[in-house]
Amino acid sequence: MQLTVNGAARKFDGDPQMPLLWYLRDLLELTGTKYGCGMGLCGACTVHVDGKAVRSCQTKMGTLAGKSVMTIEGLGGGHVVQKAWMAANVPQCGYCQSGQIMQAVALLKEKPKPTEQDIDGAMQGILCRCGTYQRIRTAIKAAAGVKA
Ligand code: FES
Ligand code: FES
Repeated sequence: MQLTVNGAARKFDGDPQMPLLWYLRDLLELTGTKYGCGMGLCGACTVHVDGKAVRSCQTKMGTLAGKSVMTIEGLGGGHVVQKAWMAANVPQCGYCQSGQIMQAVALLKEKPKPTEQDIDGAMQGILCRCGTYQRIRTAIKAAAGVKA
C-alpha cells in the first residue's frame, strides 16, 4: 500500500496490524514521536493523519492506505506553535512534548482562536509527568494570538 509521510510518498507491505508508531520509529527512524504507554492513554505518540491528531500506538498500518501522516519532524522547526513553545520555554524533560505540539497544531487548525474549554478538551488526553500544563496553555494562546 501507499501512503505519505511528511510529504514524501512511502510504500508499506508489512503486517497491516503493525502500529503506526512502530513504523515511524523503527522503519523510518522518525524518533521524534515517542512511545509512552502503548495503550492510547498518554498521548506521547500523537501524530496527524489527514490533519487530525491520532495516537499512533493505536493506529494500525492497515488503515492508512492513501492517507497522509505528519509527525513532529514534518513541522520543520519553524512552525508558529513551535516558536510559541520556545518563547514560553515549555518543555521540561521533553518526553511528552512532540505529542503536545502535534495535538496543539491540530487544535489550532480546527479552532484558530480556541477558548479555554477548547484547549482543555483538545489537550486533556496528553499527559505531562513534569506538569508543564500551564506553560502549554500559555504557548497555545500565544500561537493563536489570544489573550493569556
Ligand atoms: S504511547 Fe500512544 S497513547 Fe501512550
Ligand atoms: S515535559 Fe516531561 S513529561 Fe512533559
